[in-house]
Amino acid sequence: MTTTTIEKDTLDAVHTDESQIAVHWKEEEYYAPSPDFVKQANLTDPSVNERFAEKNFPQCFEEYADMLTWYERWNTVLDTQDPPFWKWFVGGKINASYNCVDRNLALYRNKAAIVFVPEPEDEEPQVLTYQELYVRVNEFAALLRSFCGLKAGDRVTIHMPMVAELPITMLACARLGVIHSVVFGGFSGEACGLRAADSGSNVLIYMDGYYRGGKMIDHKAGAEIAVATAAKEGQKIDKVLVWKRYPGKYTSATPMVPDRDFFVDEILKDFRRAIVDPVPMDSEAPLFLMYTSGTTGKPKGCQHRTGGYLAYVTGTSKYIQDIHPTDTYWCMADIGWITGHSYIVYGPLALGATSVIYEGLPTYPDAGRVWRIAERLGVNIFHTSPTAIRGLRKAGPDEPMKYNYHFKHMTTVGEPIEPEVWRWYYNIVGKTEAVIVDTWWQTENGGFLCSTKPAMDKMKPGSAGPGVPGIYPVIYDENNQEVKAGSGKAGNICIRNPWPGIFQTIWGDRDRFVRQYYAKYCRDTKSKRWQDWPYFAADGAVQAGDGYFRILGRVDDVINVAGHRLGTKELESACLTVTEVAEAAVVPVVDEIKGRVPEIYISLKPGYAANKEISDKVIATLETMIGKIARPKRVHIVPDMPKTRSGKIMRRVLAAISNTLDTGDITTLANPDVVEQIRITVQGKEKLAFREGPEDLKQFGTQE
Ligand code: PRX
Repeated sequence: MTTTTIEKDTLDAVHTDESQIAVHWKEEEYYAPSPDFVKQANLTDPSVNERFAEKNFPQCFEEYADMLTWYERWNTVLDTQDPPFWKWFVGGKINASYNCVDRNLALYRNKAAIVFVPEPEDEEPQVLTYQELYVRVNEFAALLRSFCGLKAGDRVTIHMPMVAELPITMLACARLGVIHSVVFGGFSGEACGLRAADSGSNVLIYMDGYYRGGKMIDHKAGAEIAVATAAKEGQKIDKVLVWKRYPGKYTSATPMVPDRDFFVDEILKDFRRAIVDPVPMDSEAPLFLMYTSGTTGKPKGCQHRTGGYLAYVTGTSKYIQDIHPTDTYWCMADIGWITGHSYIVYGPLALGATSVIYEGLPTYPDAGRVWRIAERLGVNIFHTSPTAIRGLRKAGPDEPMKYNYHFKHMTTVGEPIEPEVWRWYYNIVGKTEAVIVDTWWQTENGGFLCSTKPAMDKMKPGSAGPGVPGIYPVIYDENNQEVKAGSGKAGNICIRNPWPGIFQTIWGDRDRFVRQYYAKYCRDTKSKRWQDWPYFAADGAVQAGDGYFRILGRVDDVINVAGHRLGTKELESACLTVTEVAEAAVVPVVDEIKGRVPEIYISLKPGYAANKEISDKVIATLETMIGKIARPKRVHIVPDMPKTRSGKIMRRVLAAISNTLDTGDITTLANPDVVEQIRITVQGKEKLAFREGPEDLKQFGTQE
């Protein structure tokens, strides 16, 4: 291992004005990739910097598109005629399912495409070869087409756990040009129903049950709620297709509804040996929707295109994930999040790799499980989040040493990673052999935005690194001024240019797309030059003198729980459905494992007294309406919310109290006295010393 100290300055109390945020950050030492890694890496040619330099934009991205197989080549790389609705590889025709399945048959027909690892350890892993994947995707596509009557452009909502049938379902949709919308399996039936209604799906695809933490979960139960919720929103669900976790055996206790619910294995009998030609899709045809939380209550359906998206995830899987067809790659994310779409399904399969899908909890039945899977399958690329890394470290700090696996490459994604946790990942999990990439990006982005190039750039714990090839990030302050690298000041990280993985729009809401991502820094709304339309990511960041970006967290009211965004407004609306609740405010609190978790403040309607039953009801409501991921750390029942004179709840003040930070100036509040009452409820009578809070908490709620 080589470590070089280049700069080690402590950036102390730098002067800032209101538009900028001071950062107190000690520079970390660099780590270099091992010579063994570099020797075999996909991307080592220094000319990549030149090839993807701004003067070669947008043509540089043809390098990614050329990694795919097209029916017709594009005639325009980037069309900027309708900004900021950029169009990529215009005129091209392509099919994503063909690229991830059919084209791999020639070289890898009987090589593993997917290895499904069931949670119960006495169940053997199931291997799906590319040939087997081809057969199953074709049969299921035939079912979707003939039994459900689905065609290109229709939407289908998929609410499934981590099983091989999930990518089969997605790839069958893609084969027909049907737009899939996968809802994270851990979300509730209600959350699924709302998303199904928003996307206008009339077919839902479910699994009967799955294992998690040693228990068989009745997943089909959620379908009833999803159908009812969608109906309330005016969307009729005609069919619910139900996969079985065990062939021939229904594991759910929820009855099937005649003429609405159908077992996939029974219907599939009519489609044995069916072959469905992939539909050549326009490069710009939507491939999928992925819902994510934003600053306002309603989740946004991020609409991703076919050609540009697939090119981008394939290119970054090859260069940043260093995936070769010979690799056994395991991304522990859930396919129900964007990471799973891009870096479990589309990217790795387009490159002909073997992608591992694990059903259950990483620490079930014990802290060694992940490492046993890695050893047993010979995993050599590993991809997970800081939350999972912290959890594994807590559960078994020395476990990795006991197993004989060897990673060449590891990824961290989803939230900032503390340097101390990074070093455990590097030394213990990676056994100092594996290179680490800290990849910063978002659901909206399709693929990585910042990361080191694994064989070419040194790693720096806690820093994502520079923009990846063809991405030109910049930090702006609130006055549209660029915050320079090495200034020690933070600001809003933006991307100056479009890229092929960026989403096309918010499903059904073009105005919100423009407002939320481009309005803030657009220089001229009439301009058709991409240079005038920087993409606003809503993350705070600081750029060190070496050009590396360190991400500080969200600047808007979104809570990043275990690497995933929960909209505070969505949570608050759920709390307000509890009869006794008059007002609700949700704030993030620091959690050792998950990074941040929500904490709830409620005030009650007149005539109700605070009691535990009400808090329990709020917790149960959040779990049913959003899912277990939204389970709050605590619920505080307070006499009133701190409010501005115009009546807005000051979440910033509540977040400070929850995290023992300085509440700052409260004299402008309409009811400053309530702050001390709330503080006593939360912290007790005795005044606690303020802590130095992380940047995202200090910024939380300041945009109100
Ligand atoms: O705040 C950033 C954080 O996660 C947000 C995106 O969340 P989501 O759309 O759910 O996508 C998660 C996986 C791509 C970002 O706005 N984030 C993501 N990756 C990192 C990160 N924060 C710091 N470092 C990262 N590597």
